[in-house]
Amino acid sequence: MLRSVILAASRSTQVERLVATAPFTRDVVRRFVAGAATDDALRATRALVTDGQAVTLDYLGEDTTTPEQANATRDEYLKLLRLLGAAGLTPAAEVSVKLSALGQAFDEQFAYDNARQICAAADAVGTTVTLDMEDHTTTDSTLDILTKLRKDHPSTGAVLQAYLRRTESDCRELSAAGSRVRLCKGAYKEPESVAYQSAREVDKSYVRCMNVLMAGDGYPMLATHDPRLIAIGEDRARWFDRDPGRFEFQMLYGIRPEEQKRLVGEGYTVRTYVPYGDQWYGYLMRRLAERPANLMFFGRAVVSK
Ligand code: FDA
Repeated sequence: MLRSVILAASRSTQVERLVATAPFTRDVVRRFVAGAATDDALRATRALVTDGQAVTLDYLGEDTTTPEQANATRDEYLKLLRLLGAAGLTPAAEVSVKLSALGQAFDEQFAYDNARQICAAADAVGTTVTLDMEDHTTTDSTLDILTKLRKDHPSTGAVLQAYLRRTESDCRELSAAGSRVRLCKGAYKEPESVAYQSAREVDKSYVRCMNVLMAGDGYPMLATHDPRLIAIGEDRARWFDRDPGRFEFQMLYGIRPEEQKRLVGEGYTVRTYVPYGDQWYGYLMRRLAERPANLMFFGRAVVSK
């Protein structure tokens, strides 16, 4: 119930205005977002890489409605990739891209062209691009664009969401050699017709999907903070004889940093998803929806002001 309310609010410009201007917001945002500027992203990346982690960077923004906005997002990624290469932070750092920020909602070909340029810039500095996955109405379009991108940029990866009923089958399609799949639970509000609704069903689907990916020949990226799923991931890595270079764990910036360090200490590859930029509203609301305890964090920030 609470999750649905917060996810509905994540699409409301009125609530966005309220949250954005509230005095306590900055402290909350700072926990989950590296900062507004490219330099903030580079600083956070350098710190994580120094600690032995890999990184994927997300320039925040989604649901772009104009070509100008979409091109500005593309240009930021091109600049970011140049700077990451020049700073020697690739291939440890790669980028994550939301196609809706590149124009997918108004022109799929336009979004593809922008994504292609980002993939070429990533190739030029020896790193990779992963396509984020948004609500289920965009899944087919995103996977079509992935197929096209992989013709020239075979290392391009994509996110699959375990809460969607179709995902086990998508995992089979994408478990061949050369493919990179980031498996997550899924963060949007989806109808029962397409998505499992209970946490138990989603977790069971995650395990089935993980089994398919870990048994396959691609490169699985297990994106979760869930202690049970991480333990199952470690078990499957032993079972399928995948050493740390043949799969990775991924978590979000600011969430369970101690667990990230523990896994690095155990010798696993751990990649942190680092969002930056000033369009943090939708991202922050999805993080709050995931965990009521984060609302307490919000509450404490309000009280301390
Ligand atoms: P779950 O939410 O069940 O949490 C399990 C445990 O993890 C909690 O009990 C708590 O201990 C800890 N935890 C989880 N979330 C927390 C939080 N916000 N704050 C503090 N502790 C928390 N989704 C999507 O739809 N499309 C996408 O492209 C992506 N991309 C993506 C990349 C990466 C690298 C990650 C890690 C996640 C995504 N997601 C995503 C988000 C994903 O779908 C999911 O919403 C979150 O990862 C939360 O799910 P968990 O698997 O962590 O489990």
